[in-house]
Amino acid sequence: MRLIRLPGVFRPHSDSLLLAERLREELARRLHASVADVCTGSGVLAVTAAQSGAGAVAAVDVSRRAVLTARLNARLNGVRIRAVRGDLLAPLAGERFDVIVSNPPYVPSAADELPRHGARRAWDAGRDGRRVLDRICDAAPGHLAPGGAILIVQSSVCDVEQTVERLTAGGLEAAVVTRREGPLGPLLSARAAALERRGLLAPGVRSEEIAIVRGQAPARLAVERPAALTG
Ligand SMILES: C[S@@+](CC[C@H](N)C(=O)[O-])C[C@H]1O[C@@H](n2cnc3c(N)ncnc32)[C@H](O)[C@@H]1O
Repeated sequence: MRLIRLPGVFRPHSDSLLLAERLREELARRLHASVADVCTGSGVLAVTAAQSGAGAVAAVDVSRRAVLTARLNARLNGVRIRAVRGDLLAPLAGERFDVIVSNPPYVPSAADELPRHGARRAWDAGRDGRRVLDRICDAAPGHLAPGGAILIVQSSVCDVEQTVERLTAGGLEAAVVTRREGPLGPLLSARAAALERRGLLAPGVRSEEIAIVRGQAPARLAVERPAALTG
């Protein structure tokens, strides 16, 4: 895949590539799936989806430059995606997808308030790193087609189990499907001391687990039979 980036747009890291690999596996089992890439950045996951046989791909980012970059990268790779600017799934109101994929900001930051501009918007995610993650978990079930699945990547420093629990509370069957242990990335390394002080990292530990959580919607909605029919 060829990728260009306008200044300030997030360069895909190892977590993006891990998620792209898992996305390809997901799409290998689904013919012409509709896909939404939430927090698309360069569009790496949206383009991966389109190249992996998705029937239609929507991509959302809050950054104008990211949306433009995603469109350019789709063209550069000869695939079609619909890239739109907005907040998480809000621009896709009323739409449901077979697959939702997301590599959201998840790096714990000094304050809960999220940056409104600049490169830090791609990773700063509040004091516990969950400000964006939680909102995606809550919104995703309402945007999944019956049997559809969401794939989210995150670090162990921002509580993977919480993601599983939140998706489960939304009615999905959720589990961690990929774990990869490695040294802290540069963004987390720079904040390691603060993460230790807040109990998000054990003392002296300088490694993290990158995890992919998958949540699947029920194949079809359960229909309750009227009392008159159940006798
Ligand atoms: C970690 S980057 C991931 C980019 C890309 N998906 C990848 O894996 O390389 C997160 C992206 O989320 C975008 N973002 C942050 N907050 C958002 C929001 N509320 N709605 C939509 N996009 C958001 C940022 O602009 C950034 O492009």
